[in-house]
Amino acid sequence: MSDKKYIRIGLIGTGLMGRIHTNGYKRLADFFSEYGHRPVLQACCSRREEKAKAFAEQWGYDSYETDWKKIIERDDIDAVDICTPNDKHAEIAIAAAKAGKMILCEKPLARTLEEAKTMVEAVEEAGVKNTVWYNYRRVPAVTLAKQIVASGKLGKIFHYRANFLQDWTISPDLPQGGDALWRLDAAAAGSGVTGDLLAHCIDTAMWINGGIKDVSAMTETFIKERVHQGSGEKQKVTIDDACQFHCHFDNGSLGLFEATRYARGHKALYTFEINGEHASIRWDLHDLTRLEYFDHDDEGQVRGWRSIHVTDGDHPYMDRWWIPGTSIGYEHSFIHQVADFFKSLDTGESCHPTFKDAYETQKVCEAVLESANERAWKDTHVDWTEK
Ligand SMILES: NC(=O)c1ccc[n+]([C@@H]2O[C@H](COP(=O)([O-])OP(=O)(O)OC[C@H]3O[C@@H](n4cnc5c(N)ncnc54)[C@H](O)[C@@H]3O)[C@@H](O)[C@H]2O)c1
Repeated sequence: MSDKKYIRIGLIGTGLMGRIHTNGYKRLADFFSEYGHRPVLQACCSRREEKAKAFAEQWGYDSYETDWKKIIERDDIDAVDICTPNDKHAEIAIAAAKAGKMILCEKPLARTLEEAKTMVEAVEEAGVKNTVWYNYRRVPAVTLAKQIVASGKLGKIFHYRANFLQDWTISPDLPQGGDALWRLDAAAAGSGVTGDLLAHCIDTAMWINGGIKDVSAMTETFIKERVHQGSGEKQKVTIDDACQFHCHFDNGSLGLFEATRYARGHKALYTFEINGEHASIRWDLHDLTRLEYFDHDDEGQVRGWRSIHVTDGDHPYMDRWWIPGTSIGYEHSFIHQVADFFKSLDTGESCHPTFKDAYETQKVCEAVLESANERAWKDTHVDWTEK
């Protein structure tokens, strides 16, 4: 054994995010070996014993539980990782905070702003370490975009534009609710694309370009009724299938955002573009190691969009990986989040985005949904400083 401090992880929810977070914990010691804290895969939790046991065996957890409350009660768990659908985030996080555990919670923080507020209060009252998995901040090209904007190279920012496009819910035969389809059930998800997809775009946008002041939005639910997997009956669909909003940022720039699950041909096309006085930047999740950059100060004849392959040793996070020119992927954004969380245990600093930061994003989501319902501009009351 070394002089490392071991943080025993209790992971709740063994679906997509359960797997990808676990991969992050497993890679930390190999690629961020000097950090003073290290994760231990202490216990995972899934409601069905067969699934919990199989997950523990496959991914290397020391034990498993079938009731999340057991994870909270155990005194051999230091940090609770919440990878369940959104309807369980608040209940688990508040219980974990009361038990004095560190908390790593998936996004969106909660289903509603009110729920999110109770979570912020709980972690602040308990004084426990907390973070929310808005992982796109840790894609090296996105981190580089943030650094370039912060350096002032773009000058005054005029426009921030983001899309998150998918196409997986177009069929009217797709049911709602239950395992795998909880995202279509507002009771479990809180909202549709606003909380699921736009929340990511909003977090990245405010991180790079500052607070969003007010919004005007429209939403649409294209398929009005779907069979609910719980009741077996056709029920009204109450999530937003698509959402578009525009906004003012605190810095005077204009924002334009769109998310939908009805853009045929797109699986997870998250893109953003920022236009400034001197330069512009754009990024695309389908080509995530590249950052496109246009600099108006370039000499006229060779001026044009350049495509930066963000794989060099001096690019964010890339000194940890292979050799310049070789790519990393989606999963690495989560490895980086694990790494930043564990680094923050060494330094004693917060690991952003914290619950409080994610609460600010939730304010924008709430204002967007209100604006769409009321067909009116809404102030967000976001309080955003460098996070
Ligand atoms: N950061 C990202 O990019 C990203 C991507 C996908 C999902 N998410 C978020 O992660 C969370 C989980 O999403 P997912 O895609 O992994 O969903 P998923 O459906 O793949 O997995 C959810 C898991 O939670 C389990 N679960 C549900 N209720 C439970 C309970 N009461 N106790 C224990 N386990 C329970 C389910 O059985 C399932 O294994 C959601 O909040 C989602 O918004 C974030």
